Amino acid sequence: MTYQGLIHRYGQYLDLPAHTKPISLLEGNTPLIPMPRLSRELGCELFIKFEGLNPTGSFKDRGMTAAISEAVGRGAKTVICASTGNTAASAAAYAARAGLRSIVLIPEGKVAVGKLAGAIAYGAEVIQIQGSFDDALSLVVEITQKTPIALVNSINPFRIEGQKTAAFEICDDLGSAPDWLCLPVGNAGNITSYWAGFKQYQKGLPQILGVQAAGAAPLVLGHPVEKPETVATAIRIGRPARGEQALEAAQESNGRIIAVTDEQILSTQRVLASEGVWVEPASAAGLSGLLAESAVGKFEVKGRRIVVVCTGHGMKDPSIITESFQSPKVIPADYAALIEVIET
Ligand code: F0G
Repeated sequence: MTYQGLIHRYGQYLDLPAHTKPISLLEGNTPLIPMPRLSRELGCELFIKFEGLNPTGSFKDRGMTAAISEAVGRGAKTVICASTGNTAASAAAYAARAGLRSIVLIPEGKVAVGKLAGAIAYGAEVIQIQGSFDDALSLVVEITQKTPIALVNSINPFRIEGQKTAAFEICDDLGSAPDWLCLPVGNAGNITSYWAGFKQYQKGLPQILGVQAAGAAPLVLGHPVEKPETVATAIRIGRPARGEQALEAAQESNGRIIAVTDEQILSTQRVLASEGVWVEPASAAGLSGLLAESAVGKFEVKGRRIVVVCTGHGMKDPSIITESFQSPKVIPADYAALIEVIET
């Protein structure tokens, strides 16, 4: 039978209410891409779980199929979320599929163009907040407490249920959990989901390396960050909703949460692209953390099986690339000019 999406494939492992009415765009089932060159350089067995290949280009679709399926089954008519962009695009797509109205709140001027375009294309009502993601999240929590509008941020437990499926897929592909799982941490829903998923699936437990951006690293600093700043706008978050659970996941797994600089993130984005995997900046944070830790001897990679989660596609944030590179050469449309430019 052809693939029918995550609720169909893993529904028996997901704690979803009976009224859930599956809404799917055939999310999940993303590849675990071997990285032979990086593996050789590091002396380990490295895989990228490429979540950018989900229907709307990020891992958010895993949780959104669950959250929207539950919301529509209970009769919700409108959904809302705060977002740094990917949740917005995903909520908009699944709401469209289900015939629901969607409203998304985003921090003004801080959302990558591919995400904003997606949210608009799928028909969301996009509202820019003169504030941060954290401010937007407070507002959507308040409005969903006072009105029948359904919240589809990862505070919604069904988002976490859906996102556990990535851990299940990794175990199914490898036959067991890897030694390490490295991933970016923003609002901390995904690290929470992976840890819950691995614990539930009983195919072994990885150590978890969660990675924040240095300018938005509340879980490393141990306190909220009032004005988070990073080039990795997806994880530009100062008060993670599931921060406690993220710290628990790191601790229980015998792993940790660290921070990397924007320069490290961007250079790792290039490393990944040089092996054929183009991801958005936030998605490079997991590998960036692994490279930084192993470079200073804090991470024994030798002989280990490591999965790095790349959460969103590079096409989400094209301006990061086009702004930092020289624009391509322009030549007359003739052979002599072409051969000259290639050979010099
Ligand atoms: N990577 C990407 C590409 C993201 O979009 C996000 C979060 C994360 C990592 C971090 O995941 O929040 O579960 O710790 N994006 C949210 C959004 C905040 O609104 O799209 P997390």
